[in-house]
Amino acid sequence: MSEFKQTFNSSLGKKLIMALTGLFLCTFLIVHLGGNLLLFKNDDGFGFNVYANFLTHFPPIEVVAYLLYLCIVVHAIYALVLTVKNRRARPVGYAVVNKSPASWSSKNMGLLGSVLLLFLVIHMGNFWYTYKYTHNVGYKEYRTDLSSGITTSSNFTPLSPDFENSVQTANNTEIVRVKDLHATVAFVFHNIWYVLIYVIAMGAVSFHLLHGFQSAFRTLGWVHRKYTPIVEFIGTWLFAVIIPVGFALMPIVYYFCR
Ligand code: HEM
Repeated sequence: MSEFKQTFNSSLGKKLIMALTGLFLCTFLIVHLGGNLLLFKNDDGFGFNVYANFLTHFPPIEVVAYLLYLCIVVHAIYALVLTVKNRRARPVGYAVVNKSPASWSSKNMGLLGSVLLLFLVIHMGNFWYTYKYTHNVGYKEYRTDLSSGITTSSNFTPLSPDFENSVQTANNTEIVRVKDLHATVAFVFHNIWYVLIYVIAMGAVSFHLLHGFQSAFRTLGWVHRKYTPIVEFIGTWLFAVIIPVGFALMPIVYYFCR
C-alpha cells in the first residue's frame, strides 16, 4: 500500500479528513447564515428568493454544493468508523468526570452528530428537495419602479411547466419572476413541531461546534501559544453562540412575528 493510502487509512488519517471536512462545513455555515439573514428583511421574500435562485442556477456554486454533500457524507462515515473503533478500544468510560460544557460536548460528539444528521435529512427535505425536485413551490413576480426604487410583489403562474426564472425591463420597471422558496420557509416555520425541531437542532449545532471547531485545529497540529486562544474564542462565540442563535431565531421570528 502506498504511504499516502496508509496515512489516510490510519486513525490519524481519518481524523485529519474529519478535521478538514468539518472546517469546510463550518465555512459553509457562515455563508449559509449570511444568505439566510435575508429572511429577516421585510420585502415579501424578494432578496431571499433572488438569492436562492442564484444559488441553484450558477454552475460554480453547484460544483461547491456537490463538494459540500461529499464532505457531509465523508464526515459522518468517518465519525461512525472512529467511534466504533474507540468504543472497542475503551469499552469502559473514564473514571474522572469533568462537567464543563466543552467536556460534555467532547464526550457526546457522536450523539450530537447523529442529531445533526437527522436534522439535515429533515431540513433538506423541507427546502432543498422541495425546491429542486417537486412542483410544490409557487412563483412570485416582483416589479421594481426604477425611478422610485419601490418594489411590489404578486403571485405568478408560468405558462410552461419548465419555467425557471426571468428578468426583464419594460416602461422603466424591472420585472423579476422567480420560485417563491420564501413562502415554503414561512409555511414550514408556521408549524410548531418544525420550529421545535429546528431550535433543538441548533442546540446540537452549538455543542457540536463548541468542541469540534477547536478540536479540528488541534488535530491538524495548528496549536500555538498566541493563536490557540483566538481559535477558542472564535469556536465559542462565533460557532457555538452567534451562528446557532442566528439560525434558531429564523423559525422563532417566523412563527411568532410573520
Ligand atoms: C433555521 C435555519 C436554517 C434555514 C432557514 C435554512 C434554510 C435553507 C434553505 C432555504 C435551503 C435551500 C436553498 C439553499 O441552498 O439556500 C437550505 C439548504 C441547505 N441547508 Fe439550510 N437552513 C438553516 C439551517 C441549516 C443548518 C444549521 C445546516 C447545517 C447543519 C444547514 C444545512 C443545509 C444544507 C447542507 C443545505 C443544502 C445546500 C445546497 O444544496 O447548496 N441549514 N437551507
